[in-house]
Amino acid sequence: MTKFADIKGFVFDLDGVITDTSILHGTAWHQLADSLGVAWSEELGNGLKGISRMDSLEMILKAGGKENDYTEAEKEKLAAQKNTNYVAEVDKMTPANILPGMKDFLDSLRAKGYQLSLASASKNAPRVLGKLQLADYFPKIVDPASLKKGKPDPEIYTKGAELLNLPPEQCIGVEDAAAGVAAINAAGEVSLGIGDATELGAADMVFANTSLVTLANIEKKLG
Ligand code: BG6
Ligand code: MG
Repeated sequence: MTKFADIKGFVFDLDGVITDTSILHGTAWHQLADSLGVAWSEELGNGLKGISRMDSLEMILKAGGKENDYTEAEKEKLAAQKNTNYVAEVDKMTPANILPGMKDFLDSLRAKGYQLSLASASKNAPRVLGKLQLADYFPKIVDPASLKKGKPDPEIYTKGAELLNLPPEQCIGVEDAAAGVAAINAAGEVSLGIGDATELGAADMVFANTSLVTLANIEKKLG
């Protein structure tokens, strides 16, 4: 088991970890589900966390038994519609939308010389980081368009460690989604989950909220 002293880098998810965009994604998908006549549930919403745009649409259509009702071109249009609604909300964001404690945590990582990369499934990640004025912290971003498979496949976290030139076991992956924790674990990194301990039960360590994510608390858990 990796010890705290072995850790050299952090591979971050974005939505729901650094900022509360998981809520904005959820609202935009909920709107689309309503317009398609697909019943929304909290479970469906949670299951979409960390999942790519087109895979999310497929999951919504499947939940409503509508997976064969649309052509590929129509699906692209639906996904674009959701993205337009989502981006309109993102463009209202400011650094005030950084989740509690996250800016301090990122600053402490920088001050201690840890390397950082971003492993977000979102094609809007650079835009979101810009709005939060955090682009400087993440010069290394895995391009989600380059992925063969999305979370829970390990590919995005494997690439996140590769960008840092670090072996996976020297990296902590930070996630709010069960699919993301599964991806981190499968990549052989240490998984840090933020949120509900039952939902994120597969993580090596879970913190109930972002304020609790500090180097001191991580050291306590890893030993
Ligand atoms: C993930 C979010 O980070 O990015 C998902 O958790 C979202 O909810 C996915 O669907 C893709 O985002 P985008 O911005 O490319 O549609
Ligand atoms: Mg997330």
